[in-house]
Amino acid sequence: MFLDQNRAPLLDALIAHHAEGVHPFHVPGHKHGVGARDLLSLFGQTTLSFDLNAMHDLDDACNPVGVIDEAQRLAAHLFGADHAHFLVNGNTQGIHSMMLSAVGPGEQIVLPRNCHRSAITGLILSGGLPIYVPVEIDAHLGVATGPTVQSVRATLEKNPFVCALFVVNPSYYGFATDIEGMVRAAHDHRAAALVDEAHGTHLSFHPDFPANAMSVGADMSAVSMHKTGGSLTQSAILLSKGERVPHDILKESIDLIRSTSASYLLMVSLDTARRSLAQDAPGQFERVLQLARFARTEINLIEGLYSPGKEICRPDSSVFNYDESKLLIHCASAGFTGFEMERLLRDRFSIQVELADMNNVLALITIGTREEDILHLVGSLKTIVLGNNRKHSRPTVPPPLMPDVISSPRQAFYSPKKFMPLSGSAGQISGEMLMSYPPGIPIICPGERITQDIIDYVRVLKEQGSLLQGTADPLAENIRVLGA
Ligand SMILES: Cc1ncc(COP(=O)(O)O)c(C=O)c1O
Repeated sequence: MFLDQNRAPLLDALIAHHAEGVHPFHVPGHKHGVGARDLLSLFGQTTLSFDLNAMHDLDDACNPVGVIDEAQRLAAHLFGADHAHFLVNGNTQGIHSMMLSAVGPGEQIVLPRNCHRSAITGLILSGGLPIYVPVEIDAHLGVATGPTVQSVRATLEKNPFVCALFVVNPSYYGFATDIEGMVRAAHDHRAAALVDEAHGTHLSFHPDFPANAMSVGADMSAVSMHKTGGSLTQSAILLSKGERVPHDILKESIDLIRSTSASYLLMVSLDTARRSLAQDAPGQFERVLQLARFARTEINLIEGLYSPGKEICRPDSSVFNYDESKLLIHCASAGFTGFEMERLLRDRFSIQVELADMNNVLALITIGTREEDILHLVGSLKTIVLGNNRKHSRPTVPPPLMPDVISSPRQAFYSPKKFMPLSGSAGQISGEMLMSYPPGIPIICPGERITQDIIDYVRVLKEQGSLLQGTADPLAENIRVLGA
């Protein structure tokens, strides 16, 4: 079937619906904005008229056979997948669906411990058992980069009944594994290759980016279109290829956790973002790379700052490739924690970075970045560092070691729990997650033994003003541990 990437079928259907002047006797109850005065004046008539629900001319996300089906086929074609599913609950929904479809209760999945919280919560839903593969840490940057193909193969060999391998490509920080080697390792062991490409929507669209999962034969990939693909926040796409995980089971898994009222605003943003990527991506991402490379060169001229590029890649390491659109800025050698740098950039220069950690800040260069934003960022960093009267660099703070796993995330989730002060919880088994967000990589997961190192690390994060989440206590002063 010929697929015309210049079309945007869902957008066309919404425009036609709007033009017809339909009298709405259906939800949403604001009815084209009439009942939502503030939203109407803020977003305008057209936007609110597009906030609709499933009906004949607009198809139904739960059983797409019309314009949503066509829009999803176009997305699958663009990304080189057999199937694409529009998601309105973020990449989290894609990861949960992958886990539900590929890893049943009591089945094993190999994954890196530096994965996003959604992989762990996906295992609580599915009942899958995690087998963590060791990850490498970049000692200078103080960041976990990921596992190597060799360590994944060794883990798969030790665990012959594993049914899936979960890979993050690239990491939040831009580190990209040898995705082809990872997929081959999974398939050599009859395991499905599930890939979290939350930060990799753009990978398919420029040869200088690391390889994307579909191009090397992965079974599934969850892409956060909203992060770097240009769609609205919370919209994402789940891609699949082949029948290692049967497509009917995947569809059933997506349906299990999807809303029956998928937002047309989010879905049409996927349709239009897909069309723009098809039409403009190579030029847009060439520009992104030029801006990022210019910024990186300028930042590396500022004494004490370091922004890694492709030079950090090594074929046998976990950093097989690097996504240059991620501008990671190591600032410990200039005497700042990442959290301090984030606050200075925001308070003095109205710059908001994507994330901060103990040693770094991360700025994302995307199709929406303007040259003047880059110049402002570089100039502000220069002003901050040159005006810095701290003459001493700070030692890089490494992330804490991976704790011992005592029970599965699902078992811990359903176990009796009690609250206790985090400060006195060393030796206890955690009943919940705790993480800095972003990046949302759990410091402790349900079922893991809490160590004094973890408690000390969390205390430092709090002193630095990091945004924590995961615990029932919003201040993370108390943690729920297993026990009655
Ligand atoms: C690596 C990774 N995976 C998955 C997600 C979840 O994506 P979403 O926020 O779209 O649900 C994130 C979010 O930041 C992420 O960083």
